[in-house]
Amino acid sequence: MAKILDIRGRQVWDSRGRRTVEAEVVVGRGTTPLATGRAIAPAGASTGSAEAKTVDVPTAVHNIGTRIRDGLRALSVSDQARIDERLIDLDGTPDRSRLGANAMVAVSLACAHADAAAQKVPLWKKLAGDRRVSLPVPQIQIFGGGAHARGRCDVQDYMIVCTGAGSFAEALEWTAQVYAAAGQRLARRGALQGVADEGGYWPAFKSNEEGLLELIGAISDAGLEPGTDVGIALDIAATQLYRGGNYHLALENRILSAEQLHAMWLRWIESYPIVSIEDPFAETDSAAMRAFTKACPVQVVGDDFFVTSADKVRNAAGACNAVLLKPNQVGTLTETLACWDAARTAGYKAIVSARSGETEDVSIVHLAVGWGVPQLKVGSFARSERMAKWNEGLRIEESLGAKALPYPARKLFE
Ligand code: PGA
Ligand code: ZN
Repeated sequence: MAKILDIRGRQVWDSRGRRTVEAEVVVGRGTTPLATGRAIAPAGASTGSAEAKTVDVPTAVHNIGTRIRDGLRALSVSDQARIDERLIDLDGTPDRSRLGANAMVAVSLACAHADAAAQKVPLWKKLAGDRRVSLPVPQIQIFGGGAHARGRCDVQDYMIVCTGAGSFAEALEWTAQVYAAAGQRLARRGALQGVADEGGYWPAFKSNEEGLLELIGAISDAGLEPGTDVGIALDIAATQLYRGGNYHLALENRILSAEQLHAMWLRWIESYPIVSIEDPFAETDSAAMRAFTKACPVQVVGDDFFVTSADKVRNAAGACNAVLLKPNQVGTLTETLACWDAARTAGYKAIVSARSGETEDVSIVHLAVGWGVPQLKVGSFARSERMAKWNEGLRIEESLGAKALPYPARKLFE
């Protein structure tokens, strides 16, 4: 069994041109290095207030090279639970503010990569063991608004889910067509203004609902059937809209109560083939979230609302019916996995998710495949920090071949 010999941190840059931290873990037997694992921390823009805290990048790099390195050296790299427990102890705070969740998640993931490399298997395979796996169903952004487009519209993500696709590769084929069609539609109206943080088109809409109409138009232009081939997923990120007990739709110059917003979402779900809606109410507005989940016929995802906390999922009491899993919201792989376990136990669906600030790191694709999480969200169909992840999914699907479990899209959303 390989042991941790050395750990280094370094500053690298993310997709928004901001500093972030990379960790590199060297493992071996005795003093002989066998393998290296590497991972980079992502960063959110519409972060939940209960997310684990980051420290500035020079401090994160320093922490990795000192306290974390000293604390993890000589541990077996295969014992992820022990590694993560040690990280949590070394940090010693409830919000990860001493070591920094950015330092912790980079190290936690780098250890997993190093273990996989030492075992000469892909990361997904190390996580899955002998379990059969499939590729997850992607939620792919077409228009990017909210905090990822300087509040140009209120809804943060207008996404598609290729519910009728027979494989991950086919879902990407269809997405490429819809993404291109959406761009052509905007160009024809003189409304093509580049892309937002996750690669979705900048939303030059007069109302939030116009984004839905454009999405339906793009799906149809691509020769696909809205609702049958392709459904819609929304991330409202409503915490960003919540002030003084009401929801402010800046684009439409309207202020809505939770009841009015509830009615509006239900009307949207009635009128458009929406299959999933994320953070439809603010992270603190549990009563509204609970009432809505009860009334809502589709997937209701908690992102800011759960911040990947297993405890919050266990105490949800009927709020939401699906969980977004973002490793950097908690800080370690083990805690992220615990949240997925809590979700499964509670009968909740789950989606592994990237952040709006990303890099070439493709770890999350492996987590979704290896842990059997049937949905994956990594932003749009442009910009290489996004495409790197979709392309990694293609490689994994190809390597699985006939050994894969059936691709879950049709079953998940039937
Ligand atoms: P964030 O948003 O990474 O900016 O927090 C992504 C999401 O809400 O899914
Ligand atoms: Zn979200």
